[in-house]
Amino acid sequence: RLFYDTDCSLEPLAGKTITFIGYGNQGRAQALNLRDTFKNAQNVTQPKIVIANQEDSYAKTAEQDGFGYTTDWAAAAAEADVLFLLVPDQIQPDLFNNQIAPKLKKTACIVVASGYNVFYKYLNFTSSNDIVMVAPRMVGASVRSLYESKQGYPCFVSVEQDGTGQAWPLALALCMAVGATKGGAIESSCREEALTDLFAEQAIWPTVIAVFREGYKLLKELGCSDEALVHEMWLSKEPAEIFESAADLGFIKQLVGHSSVSQYGQLKGSQEMDVSWLKKHFEHVAKERVLEGAFAEEFTAAEQKPGGIDGALKKLYQEAEKSELAVGEKRVRERLGLKT
Ligand code: NAI
Repeated sequence: RLFYDTDCSLEPLAGKTITFIGYGNQGRAQALNLRDTFKNAQNVTQPKIVIANQEDSYAKTAEQDGFGYTTDWAAAAAEADVLFLLVPDQIQPDLFNNQIAPKLKKTACIVVASGYNVFYKYLNFTSSNDIVMVAPRMVGASVRSLYESKQGYPCFVSVEQDGTGQAWPLALALCMAVGATKGGAIESSCREEALTDLFAEQAIWPTVIAVFREGYKLLKELGCSDEALVHEMWLSKEPAEIFESAADLGFIKQLVGHSSVSQYGQLKGSQEMDVSWLKKHFEHVAKERVLEGAFAEEFTAAEQKPGGIDGALKKLYQEAEKSELAVGEKRVRERLGLKT
């Protein structure tokens, strides 16, 4: 199902206290959109908007945007009718379970923008709470700029727990308020959001990275120069243009913009490729790593090791920078005077 403005009413939010936990990427965009929607709405009692944020640059931005903020999580939680949980996913469980959940109203609606912590049951809420997902498929800056230009943006919506029996009208009111129903909010679930998001991050894009890395290595062995490879493979921005055309024309239809040799090569090559190993690998990622939670467990364990996620990322970057592709690109970029 798709939900448009005409399917929604702001009434379920009238006079309510809406609290944003976090004023970052999504928090700022969604809070500003929500405030503007109510400013322009007629005959609806204005909600009270509260921003709760730790003392940092994001808090200063909330102040500059005219919201003000509180650093008192407990007080912010206690007065919330609707609570947007918009701090990074890895911060949410500790903050929510220890500082927020114990103070929440029994009927409060908790809104997440990603399925991760709800799907893996990392958040402790009571059965009387409404749990709603409003998950834009866009970075916060686009959520705001598309709203300002009166356009919609793709967004998943779901009700994960209908504690009050009124969670759906409330979820749709929230989608409308943050501008997600202009282009049609897409009915989904935390399971689907987590699966699609994590699958893309752990199966599709790693495959693309490996394809480029191994392709680069082979062609280098076959005598191609770093300059030729870097330009041919990505520096020309051809891959970016292909994906742009895929969004505009269709994933397969965009091929018509290429030469006949290219179209024939791409279509024939993808049909004839033995993808049995890929199917097996993808199934492993989707089932064991994502749905059965092996990745989430590994990530949580990595956080708890000395150095945490930053330490783990540093090691992964060091390894990636050793590849033929990364070393070759560095040389080319230095020669061309590009940012390295
Ligand atoms: P962000 O990285 O922009 O978060 C910054 C916010 O978190 C700031 O308010 C900061 O004060 C607060 N924060 C950081 N560390 C903290 C700590 N230790 N304790 C308390 N507060 C802390 O977060 P972002 O990217 O907006 O993500 C929020 C949610 O939105 C997540 O669930 C994410 O998966 C989801 N989401 C993010 C998208 C994106 O484009 N970044 C797209 C769609 C959904």
